[in-house]
Amino acid sequence: MKVTISTLCKTKIEGRKFSAVSCYDYTSAKLVAAAGVDVLFIGDSAAQLMLGFDSTLPATMDFMAAITAAVQRAAPDRLIVADLPYESCQAGTERIIRDSQRFVKECNADIIKIEANEIQIEMIKAVVDTGISVMPHLGIRPQTRQYKARGMTADDAAELIKLAERMHKAGVSMLLLEGTAREVAKIITRKLPIPVISCGSGPDCDGQVLVLPDILNLTAGPVPKFSKSFADVGRAYTEAVASYDREVKQGFYPDDIHSYHMKAGEYEKLEKLIS
Ligand code: KIV
Repeated sequence: MKVTISTLCKTKIEGRKFSAVSCYDYTSAKLVAAAGVDVLFIGDSAAQLMLGFDSTLPATMDFMAAITAAVQRAAPDRLIVADLPYESCQAGTERIIRDSQRFVKECNADIIKIEANEIQIEMIKAVVDTGISVMPHLGIRPQTRQYKARGMTADDAAELIKLAERMHKAGVSMLLLEGTAREVAKIITRKLPIPVISCGSGPDCDGQVLVLPDILNLTAGPVPKFSKSFADVGRAYTEAVASYDREVKQGFYPDDIHSYHMKAGEYEKLEKLIS
């Protein structure tokens, strides 16, 4: 059965947790969905983890639309979260609405995640007013390139709680909290009736999200304090490709079973044709 925002609201009311993974392609999304994950994000972290940039900023709308549609084709029965890239977020409300509508129409996204602060509340409300579901991304917002954990002092925590409440009042359907002190994430999760997802904001939120390369230990370079790898797929990956490389170079691959053969009698005919 399709995972919807209502499904996750029910999950919250019943005190159960849900899982989310950020991934970027059809093949991976099939495997993630088969594992039972409820929510698939197609995050702009793809700019770093797929394209090798040093921040999320170079992700373009065309690129995000292409990978969002690919993941949706792989997992149409999961909640699909599209991520509005920096170039859209910077371009004003009209462009934000147009790109959000594009994610819904072209990619079948269920909800649009938008990195936002208090200045963007009116813009968030404008998107909500078009009938599109919105998930503000609060706390650490990678599009600002500031990676300092949020809610570490009472003043900052109070500001974040107020912002979350104002976002809820603006009509958002879910909330993502990244890199926020556990205590503060817990207060926000308890206060709001909508599902709150943690990305490194402790265990008390309704759901959790990690990026797939971190879960699989595929990420080259530093990973955030909160990320955890659950299997060393990176090592298995390298070992598999190294075996392929060895077999090609030693002439073991491809062998006869992995080759096509002409129909019976055709080789003899060919020999006459080319002699
Ligand atoms: O860009 C991303 O992948 C994200 C997820 C971690 C939620 O923002």
